[in-house]
Amino acid sequence: MIRPRRNRKSPAVRALVRETTLSASDLIYPLFVHDKNTDEEIDSMPGCKRWSLEGLVKEAGEAHALGIPAVVLFPAISEDLKSPDAAECHNANGLIPRAIKALKTAYPDLLVITDVALDPYNSDGHDGLVAENDKGELEILNDETVEILCQQALCHASAGADMVSPSDMMDGRVEAIRTSLDSDGFTDVSILAYTAKYASSYYGPFRGALESSPKAGDKKTYQMDPSNVREAIRETLLDEDEGADIIMVKPAGPYLDVISQVRAATALPVAAYQVSGEYLMIKSAAKDGWLDEQSVMMESLVGIKRAGADIIVSYFAKQAAQSL
Ligand code: PBG
Repeated sequence: MIRPRRNRKSPAVRALVRETTLSASDLIYPLFVHDKNTDEEIDSMPGCKRWSLEGLVKEAGEAHALGIPAVVLFPAISEDLKSPDAAECHNANGLIPRAIKALKTAYPDLLVITDVALDPYNSDGHDGLVAENDKGELEILNDETVEILCQQALCHASAGADMVSPSDMMDGRVEAIRTSLDSDGFTDVSILAYTAKYASSYYGPFRGALESSPKAGDKKTYQMDPSNVREAIRETLLDEDEGADIIMVKPAGPYLDVISQVRAATALPVAAYQVSGEYLMIKSAAKDGWLDEQSVMMESLVGIKRAGADIIVSYFAKQAAQSL
């Protein structure tokens, strides 16, 4: 009789035949930073904080010591610095450039990745510039936005970012950012492209953390329709062609089929972003004792890896690395 259970009979056999393993070196840790001297709990994301620069450096250092190679930064910008042209996003003395410098000074080997998009800086709360068309409807301007994204990417690169990560879903931005970086001599700065970023309701807690929800309308004219997977392949081939170094799918858990098809469509490394809503669902179910947080967290991460992600961006990164 054929008995598949023989391969499950002990922890040693299970370790030997295990197909997917998670390691701290697979993880990117997203961190929120604000321009205050104290660290603040984030109501919508229990266990996450808006860090002061000092708190940020300490938290990133602890994560790095656990084997996490990279952090990605998200700024909470005060309301008075937001504007319709999002000009603060390329201020050389802004919060993100100061955070990059502080991190690279403290930990030269830690990869510092920055988010490239206008929403934290835009008084309209959109990832791109907003204009009204003849019919009085809101439109997100593509090419005008891409020009500003290039300035933002250059600003981050000048401050010492190792990688920039456009999350805005404008067309043509990977190529434009690559060209700008190269022409200013930043040929070694990588692009981690949010290639297939869906118009997802799972981003709600993140927008709470940054107070960055769109003031009007939604993001459906630039982020992808959750029903589509062939479109993700189209975006993958474009981003590869435009010079992306890493392709990313976001969210992760509800989009495992997308991760697996994107994995098959490109030779580039594939990342997946376990977003704020996925994190919060596990945290809140565990808080009430409905789920075991540690084991569900690990299962959710291994599932994302098994689907084909080489890299996982997760708010659980540090907690997971502690148990690896
Ligand atoms: C915005 C951005 C978002 C996230 C990362 N970058 C939100 C959005 O597109 O509205 C979401 C991350 C998360 O939910 O954890 N450029």
